This record gives sequence, structure tokens and C-alpha cells, in this order.
Amino acid sequence: MKIQFYLFALGVAATLFVAENGVANPVAANKFCVSTRNFALNFEVGDDGRLYQRAVGTADGNEKLLRTHESYPQAGDGYVWEPALQVVHADGNTSTALFFESVTRTNDDAGRELTQIKLHDPAYPLEVTLNFRADRERDVVEEWTGIIHHESGAVTLERMASTALLLPPKNVYLTHFFGDWAKEMLTPITEQITPGTKVLDSKMGVRADQFQNPSFVLSLDGPPVENSGRVLAGSLEWSGSFQCAFDDNGENIHALCGVNPFASAYHLNPGETFTTPKMIWVWSANGLGEMSRKLHRWARDFGMRDGHKTRAVLLNNWEATGFEFDFSRIVGLYDPAKALGVELFLLDDGWFGNKYPRVNDHAGLGDWQPNRSRLPDGLAPLATEAVKRGLRFGIWMEPEMVNPKSELFEQHPDWVIRQPKRALELQRNQLVLDLTRPKVQAFEWQSIQNILGVPDISYAKWDCNRYLTQPGSSYLAPDRQSHLWIDYVNALYALMDKTAQAFPDTELMLCSGGGGRVDYGALKYFHEFWPSDNTDPTQRVPMQWDYSYFFPPMAIASHVTHWGNRPMHFACSVAMSARFGMDLDLNKLSAQDKAICAGAISAYKRIRDVTQLGDLYRLENPHEGFRGALDFVSPDRARTVVFVFQLKDGPQSPVHPQGLDPAKNYTIHELNPAPGRAAIPQEGKTFTGEVLMRDGIVPSCAHAVEASVIELGS
Ligand code: DGJ
Repeated sequence: MKIQFYLFALGVAATLFVAENGVANPVAANKFCVSTRNFALNFEVGDDGRLYQRAVGTADGNEKLLRTHESYPQAGDGYVWEPALQVVHADGNTSTALFFESVTRTNDDAGRELTQIKLHDPAYPLEVTLNFRADRERDVVEEWTGIIHHESGAVTLERMASTALLLPPKNVYLTHFFGDWAKEMLTPITEQITPGTKVLDSKMGVRADQFQNPSFVLSLDGPPVENSGRVLAGSLEWSGSFQCAFDDNGENIHALCGVNPFASAYHLNPGETFTTPKMIWVWSANGLGEMSRKLHRWARDFGMRDGHKTRAVLLNNWEATGFEFDFSRIVGLYDPAKALGVELFLLDDGWFGNKYPRVNDHAGLGDWQPNRSRLPDGLAPLATEAVKRGLRFGIWMEPEMVNPKSELFEQHPDWVIRQPKRALELQRNQLVLDLTRPKVQAFEWQSIQNILGVPDISYAKWDCNRYLTQPGSSYLAPDRQSHLWIDYVNALYALMDKTAQAFPDTELMLCSGGGGRVDYGALKYFHEFWPSDNTDPTQRVPMQWDYSYFFPPMAIASHVTHWGNRPMHFACSVAMSARFGMDLDLNKLSAQDKAICAGAISAYKRIRDVTQLGDLYRLENPHEGFRGALDFVSPDRARTVVFVFQLKDGPQSPVHPQGLDPAKNYTIHELNPAPGRAAIPQEGKTFTGEVLMRDGIVPSCAHAVEASVIELGS
């Protein structure tokens, strides 16, 4: 049985439905909220029948509702600021008016509550559903919009945001992350939102996050800090062009995020539903640390694959061999890897192409047949040989791309994204295949099946090394060219989904010429992502810190390489704080470096259940001081691992762990200490969590590029 409340506003009957297994909020019929344990989005139906919202973080007040409070505002019927929805109806009318119709709630199996608010246009058969999935314990709300109509012809969606969250009018700060290749996420910017519209966006379609990541933090009590203040993380689940606009009209601020309306008008046929990407909101009243821990827990459950399974120690050959390898050079890397404790070998770019061998990045992309002179018997013997020697085997692929110098391009020049009458513009000598074309979809799917179907392959790195600069499709009709941006990403997700379903035991790394595709839209099909080609550990300390605001460290691939020529102990310690891997020619390492690596691998195996499945506490911000420090706490709070990364010379001051059980005893032990450095003063001693959090632990490092990894356990 359903409970129904009726509203009569402007003669429009509105209904609040509460599904049988749902939980009704005790609110008046014209007021309802989407809530989690500590967070609420408060909605109200106005006397005019429209849907309004009370600003996040404000009391459910009674102040007069203005058009600037409108939830999901529409263009063309009185709302003059940045709209969430802009539609051209089948008859050419450019206005939309949405009136409240009903709200329903249901609980899903995982205990999350789905609230669906239906709105309709009284003058047109157009219906909009605002969806909110609230994860009560983690204070996470996922939000998305569905649009359907039954007009006489297609309607054009000019703008269709995933969210239009209402924020208080004053004192809201935005923290966002700018970057570029090798600098991804490295530039955090915090600024107050002021009247006008601040836009964060990408117009690159593919590899869209290279400069700007679609994740940000809004803070309501001044610039955000780690352990206090109200903060709201926002992260858009979309790997294509996106737009996040913070529209301050002087009365209110709307945070509008979704697909980028730039050049993306979408013609929606009668009866079809347009579903926007999902927006993730995470609330914390206790600063950034708690915000991240909640988001990490959500991600391990819902945002990535196998979020409760620890990751293997990986060795990649890219930095070690580049394109220069053959069967015996690769097999020659296996035994030293195994001897060091490596568990998984990843063969990178360069294994394919025959007419145009992939011996550099100028040729062969798209021709996914193993190169006969490098690998005469194909990939299988390489994989089998690895397994025989106790290693798993993984493979690199870049299924969306093609070099013009390839058999694929020779056969199908019309399969690429390009603009007619324009000179082909290459990036890294390559082009993007047009995934809106069914034959390209079939080709890419077949290529993936051929590669991942090779026996003994249990891991793959999915790369993507360019973005769109000439967005034209010879498959889409001339009046549907603007669909390319959206249809590409949806076809990509269908491909990723099929891959994840068909190869459930194959772990996948999401890579995009570094970190050009780091978002929860794609990550849900993957186990980890490649944050950047920049593996200089002094850069990785702040970069991984920034990524950790939004992504769990178990998803952040961190490899030991020679970038920056930093001491091996420092490089290993940094990699141990995320998803540990190596990109080294182990045959060329000095005996001392080998011993450091072996020590790091064995220490990492000992602590990975804590660092990958535990809670992260960010202790000292590397952007601010002379060092960065973190700790991870196991779910039962019995074990902790503290990392200290010294970026500049500085005092050997104690680092103060967080998250410990004050009453529990912890014994201190430095893991894999750097050769020649004195033992830490508290080595082997036992203290309560309370004492450790109060007095801190003196690390072994005091000079630039030194690190200390300290285990606190029983
Ligand atoms: C870009 C990636 O980021 C690198 O790690 C490597 O896989 C190369 N592509 C290979 O072409």
C-alpha cells in the first residue's frame, strides 16, 4: 500500500508517495528532504507549484522562497541566471516550466535510499525526474536527472545538468585542482565564490581530465582544513567533456555540474529517456579528512572494482625498456622480479603491429596482432612463462586509438574522428576511433576479447593518449554531430562494462597518457588508475595527497622509477603509501638498491591490508611545509602505518598520528629503514594510542628526499 499526500497548488495535484519498504521523513506534505545521517537536502514546493530548495548547511528555514531558490532551474520562463535545463521544444518554443508532480522513496539492497522527484511541464508532455541515492552511513548522495517527453518530434536539450545544488549566499569556498600532462592535480586552488559565474570545465571529450579534474571541494566555513569545518566534496561520474558552474547571483549560489553544454545539443526523440551522468556529493562537518574517509569507503563498496581485495606487487617494463624489447628480454625480467617479491608483470606498449611494427609511437596502433619478429609465437608463451615462474601476467592496450600508419587506418580511413575539409591533426601521432559507429564498437570489442582472452592474462592497462580537437563523425548525420561528445562516452562505458563482465577476474588499470581520465564514471569498471606519467616521488607526494581527497589510495597506482633520480629508499616509501608497483630494469639495479626494493616489497606485503583497506588520515600537508605525512588505520584500529616524506631539510620533529584507539597499546617499529640511518628513538617501545597521538613519534628522516615508514601494532 502506498501512502499519498495531496497538494493543490495552482490547481496542480501533487503527490508524495512513500514506497512500502521506504522510510518517510516526518515533513509537511509540501516539504521533504533527502537525508543521510549528517546531511540533508531540503526541498519545498512553492505556492506556484515549482520545486525549491533550501541552501545546503542552512536550517530548514521559513524565509520567503525566491526564484533564485529554485531547484533544477529551467531557462526561458522567468529564470534569468545559469539554468540546469534548457530545452527547445518540438514546436520551437525555447522555454520550459517544471512543476512538482510527485516524490517516491525506495530502499535498495545496500541500504541506500532512492528518492525520485517527478516534475512536469504543464504546457508540454515533458517530464523530468530528479534522482537522489542517499548512502546514510557514509553521508554520500548520488544525484542524476532523467528527461523524457512525448512531443510531436525531437526536442533539443541544450543544457541538462546532473545537479543544481543550492549553496548559501556567502562565505562559500571552492577548492579545485588544475594540472597538465605530468602535473595532473598538482595545483590545488582555493578561492571564495563571488558574484558571477565560475566555471570549471573540459571541452576535450576523450582524456577529458588532463587539465581539470571533475572533482572539487566546497567549504562553508572558510577555506577547507583537514579536521574541522563543513565541507562538501563533489565528483562528477563522467569521462567526457564536463562543466561545473558555480553561479552566484548575489542571493544564492547554485553548483551546476554535468555534461558540458558546449557544442553538445542533444536531440531527444519522443519516448526516449536522456539520463545524465551521476554527481557524487559527500558531506563532512569535520573537515577534509572525514570527507575523504567517507568517500573512500563508498568507493570501495560502489565506486570501483574489488574494493575489498588487496592489490598485487606489480612490475611494469615501460620505464625500463620503452619500445625496445623482444621475447627473451621480457622473459629475462621475470626471475629477478620473482626473486624480489614481485607478483605481477605488466607488458606495456610495443608488442603488436606487423606491416607497421609498433617500435615507436609513430606506427602500428590499431593493429592488435602480436609482432611476429619480437614475439614469434604471440602473447601466450610470454604469459605462460610468467605464470610458470610464479608471476601473473598483464598487458597494455589502447583500444580507442589508431596511428594513420597502420593497416587499420589504411582499411578504414572513415573510422576516425575528424573534420572533413581540415588537415588531420595528430596528437602523439594518433587519432581517435569513432566509437559512435557500430562497426568501430564491434572492432574494439573484438580486439579487447582477443587480447584479454589469451590464456594466463589476468591484468590489463587500458590507455588513451589523446583528446578530441576535430570533433566530427562521418557516422553521425550532419544534424546529429553535436551528439558525438555524449554518444562517444556512453559507447565507451558500454565497452568497459562488457569488458568487466566478460573478464571478471582480470584486473584493470585506467590510464590516459597519465591521469587524463580519473573519474568515477570510468573507475567503476576498473581496479586502479594511473595518476600521472610523472613518477618523481617528490612530485608524487603532493600529487597523491591531492588525489586522495577523492580516491582511495588503493586505487592510486604509484610506481618506483628513476624519474628525478631520487634515492631508492625515498621512491619505494612513496610508492608504498598507495598501490605499489615498479617500473625498473631490475637487472641494472645496484645490490644496495635491490636490497632496499626487496625490503620495501616485503614491508608492503605486510602492511597492504592496512594501507589499502584501512582509513587514511592526512597529517602534514606537503604543499605547505617541509614534509608530508600520512597514516593509515586498520578497520579494527589495532594497526597503523605512518608515512613521513621529507621534501626539504627540516627539524626532526615528531609526527602526530591520528585515528588510533586512545586506550589501545601500540608497539613502534620502523619498516625497511634506510641503510645507515640511526634507529628511531621509540623503536620497539609500546605506548597507548592516547600518548602517541599527543606526543607523536620522532621519524628517522630530517633531510630532503628521506622517508620513514613506521608501523604501530601489537
Ligand atoms: C602513456 C602511459 O601513461 C605510459 O605509462 C605508457 O603506458 C605509455 N602511454 C605507452 O605508450
